[in-house]
Amino acid sequence: MSSILAPDRTDHKPTVLIVDDESAPRAALTQILKQDFHILTAENAHAALAVLNDHGVDLVTLDLKLPDRSGSDLLHDIKRTHAEIEVIMVTAHGSLQSAMDCIRHGAAGFLLKPFNASELLAISLQTAQKKCRLDQLRPALTDSTALWGPEPACTKTWGTLVSDYRAMNRTRSLSASECDEVSPLVPLISDLLEAKDRYLLNHGGRVSFYATLVANRLDLPIAEQQSLALGALVHDLDMISLPNRYVLSLESDRQIHRPGLGAKMGRAMGLPADAVQIIALHHERWDGTGYPFGLQEERTPLLARIVGIAQEFDQLTAEQPERTALPINEALQQIEQQAGSAFDPTLTELFCSTMRDQPQQQSG
Ligand SMILES: [Fe+2]
Repeated sequence: MSSILAPDRTDHKPTVLIVDDESAPRAALTQILKQDFHILTAENAHAALAVLNDHGVDLVTLDLKLPDRSGSDLLHDIKRTHAEIEVIMVTAHGSLQSAMDCIRHGAAGFLLKPFNASELLAISLQTAQKKCRLDQLRPALTDSTALWGPEPACTKTWGTLVSDYRAMNRTRSLSASECDEVSPLVPLISDLLEAKDRYLLNHGGRVSFYATLVANRLDLPIAEQQSLALGALVHDLDMISLPNRYVLSLESDRQIHRPGLGAKMGRAMGLPADAVQIIALHHERWDGTGYPFGLQEERTPLLARIVGIAQEFDQLTAEQPERTALPINEALQQIEQQAGSAFDPTLTELFCSTMRDQPQQQSG
């Protein structure tokens, strides 16, 4: 089978749009990036949107403070109308809160002025490389319905995708942290989820984090902890087959969510059996009212029960386009109210005490 990835464009210089109302930072950014990027500039939000509509842009460096509107407002517009374009926020007025807000709304990174030139160049190149990888994967998600279709084409197509992706990354220099991943499939899974929708990757990443905290408390063997982290990251794999934009609220809709399909894709991709089981069974419920099998109590494996609670917690606490996030304590109370019905009562107690012991955090 020929490659199902889009052609590699790494031989072309990516294009960056520098958006800043002051000439000195525009000149400095141009100087730092011009060797590796085609440069476009804009002095305000209005001009920036005009450039984005008229040119193929890969990356935007965006000043948080613009004369005609805030940079975070412009970030929202860019992600709404040009979701595939990556944005790095650059500001002299940054704070941890504004950084978190921008990252939550789709910025790939955040740099404070005065910036370190090598740091700026490194994050710009990494982000442009990521965009190139996602651009190569996106057609596979829209055109290659065999990825979620019948066997044997499903397994064959996943095999092609996995080997193409590995070959693509062998021709580039993967960072040490990417090479050291627990599973060599993690970079592909992360890119696939993000290529579909950034919410999907963020949700999986947070659920994996919460599940890992619980696994530490349970002192699970390392191999089980690794399967749990991987299975939690990829638990909503079936969502990549949906034609519409992913929103977390879809997940509670059992008419739409198809964990069995996700498990089939996980097997075809070559995930370990424990991780596949998490994908298949994280919507089972302690009292047997879950799906797809209506398993009761401990007939649902421990790792899937952990992910079931962790992903419910994230659904309640993550900011979503049309739903307000609950404060952590309220979310934990809602989960506790479902101990013995939806969730394993012992695990629920452990999960909630683990979360209450963590420093307060915002998610989204
Ligand atoms: Fe989920």
